Amino acid sequence: MKRTRLCDLLGIEYPIIQGGMVWIANAELAAAVSNAGGLGLISPTAGMSRNGNQVENLKQQLEIAKSLTSKPFGVNLPILNNPQIEELVATAIDTKVKVVVTAAGNPALYTSRFKEAGIKVIHVVAAVRHAQSAEKRGVDVVIAEGYEAGGHNGLDELTTFTLIPQVVDAVTIPVVAAGGIADARGVVAALALGADGVQMGTRFVATHECNAHQNFKEAIVKASDTDTVITGRKLGPTRILKNEVAAKIMDMEAAGASVEELLAFLGSNRSRTGQFEGDMANGEAYCGAIAGMIKEIKSVGEVIRSIVDNYETVLTSLR
Ligand SMILES: Cc1cc2nc3c(=O)[nH]c(=O)nc-3n(C[C@H](O)[C@H](O)[C@H](O)COP(=O)(O)O)c2cc1C
Repeated sequence: MKRTRLCDLLGIEYPIIQGGMVWIANAELAAAVSNAGGLGLISPTAGMSRNGNQVENLKQQLEIAKSLTSKPFGVNLPILNNPQIEELVATAIDTKVKVVVTAAGNPALYTSRFKEAGIKVIHVVAAVRHAQSAEKRGVDVVIAEGYEAGGHNGLDELTTFTLIPQVVDAVTIPVVAAGGIADARGVVAALALGADGVQMGTRFVATHECNAHQNFKEAIVKASDTDTVITGRKLGPTRILKNEVAAKIMDMEAAGASVEELLAFLGSNRSRTGQFEGDMANGEAYCGAIAGMIKEIKSVGEVIRSIVDNYETVLTSLR
């Protein structure tokens, strides 16, 4: 498999990042991805109890990951509306995390502090102008995420196929493609569009090492191509599995519900209900449109090996 400049920058073998996933990017998952040659990311809320302390949880997760791998791994920090963001930034710096992936927020806020501490900074973007501004702020890499992706998406709803080449043309730092990638074909396509690597989320949910509820993993395996939907455009577009909650949000949106009404319905932690507690009717299950292609719960090693093994075959088929 092609060794890109992302591999050299992060000290990894394959240009594959496991995306941060709010309740379920746990230490065991991140360590397994790093041990298999990619870059695993831990989310501060992974496995945390409702209204738990993200800082304490992150410290525990970091200890577990360090006991499971000697390879580099990182932390995902969504910035916006995070009441503990200052403490989380300080924790990442104090614990000498190697890589921080910031998302949903302004890269101007923390990039220089991370860089001064010797931490590699990656920022998630969903439009060319945001990639350029992240580059100006000194981030090392941008992850450009198309709206096929599971979870929160960019307001302009650009697809991975259109976003990646435009971002690649607009910045000089490495670009990682995210959204809709789950096998070697997707990786080859992303690299053909000029990306230096890929980030995958949904594929890694359906692995043994991920602490997502079994019901959520099985729902991904059962899902077809049309089983996800973008909801919550007023709050920020979010791709989730179609279920009762998705239908209710869409009904409310069609009836002109206000932001306050939508927030009141969603309450706090409804995504935990779906992803971690496995209540697939009442929870929000963040899920990418590629779910329809995922037919089996596998080990992380199998997922990565299958991509690496099939990469050359896909390339050969193009000659
Ligand atoms: C269950 C789930 C939770 C997610 N939570 C986060 C998150 O907390 N922070 C973040 O930056 N991205 C989050 N994402 C996005 C992923 O990191 C990744 O970019 C995305 O899943 C890639 O698209 P894919 O789902 O098509 O692979 C989440 C995705 C999923 C599926």
